[in-house]
Amino acid sequence: MGKLDGKVAIVTGSTSGMGRDTAYLFAKEGAKVVVTGRNEKRAKEVVDKIKAAGGEAMYVIADASEATYAQTIFDKTMEAYGTIDVLMNNAGMLSLAQFATITEKEFMDDIYINVTSALMLSQKVAPVMQAKGGGHIINVASIVGWEAHWGFVAYVTSKHAMVGLTKAMANELAPTIHVNGICPGGIKTAMLDSCGGEAVFQPLINATALKRLGEGTEIAKVALFLATDDSSFIDGQLIHVDGGVDI
Ligand SMILES: NC(=O)c1ccc[n+]([C@@H]2O[C@H](COP(=O)([O-])OP(=O)(O)OC[C@H]3O[C@@H](n4cnc5c(N)ncnc54)[C@H](OP(=O)(O)O)[C@@H]3O)[C@@H](O)[C@H]2O)c1
Repeated sequence: MGKLDGKVAIVTGSTSGMGRDTAYLFAKEGAKVVVTGRNEKRAKEVVDKIKAAGGEAMYVIADASEATYAQTIFDKTMEAYGTIDVLMNNAGMLSLAQFATITEKEFMDDIYINVTSALMLSQKVAPVMQAKGGGHIINVASIVGWEAHWGFVAYVTSKHAMVGLTKAMANELAPTIHVNGICPGGIKTAMLDSCGGEAVFQPLINATALKRLGEGTEIAKVALFLATDDSSFIDGQLIHVDGGVDI
């Protein structure tokens, strides 16, 4: 018996990284999983792997920078599975642009993709959860949603906003829908590689009690906890999954 038997879970940004690991775990626990991203080849690979293991999944190709993103994911999910129990807003991008030179467009792209798209999709999904009397929304923020460890001005701003959005949504959607977030530390994914990989993150590793980077599967396990009644008395919280940064 799986912890998500009979549930439908959307995991955005699940064509790679921690979203993909979460999609695999949710499917293993019995959920019908909706995999999203822009890369159709990788989306199909994730769905094929879930199905090969005996699970159920589908993919929706949608770009979080576009206004049609939320409606597309919502419509295709409802058409295929008829309901939604869990939404993990995980899709995200990281602009390396710094304060002095970042353009308005670069800044707004980070904000839109990392935060606005999560709000718009949650807005579509929440009424379904309210009508059925329950649901779990999990927002992926970051440790830089609390402290600005680097000068990635747009990314840091967007993740601070994701922390605020999580708390505001929890207030507005309680008691029916539980809204919580995860603040990952340095996790070994394509995003981390795009910043220069493990060597660039040595100062962060040094500041981490466990003296290592994390795995996507270590985020997935916390996402599963937040997606089930195992976390029944937790709401509006951001769980740091960072190996103990600056404790
Ligand atoms: N890795 C870390 O150390 C770390 C730390 C803190 C927080 N995070 C956060 O964790 C989340 C997942 O990142 P990750 O580390 O797993 O990186 P990743 O492997 O690069 O995954 C990012 C995911 O987001 C999707 N995505 C990116 N831009 C998108 C867009 N415009 N429209 C739709 N989907 C988009 C990607 O799908 P496609 O490529 O198919 O579009 C991919 O599935 C992000 O929100 C990130 O900010 C990561």
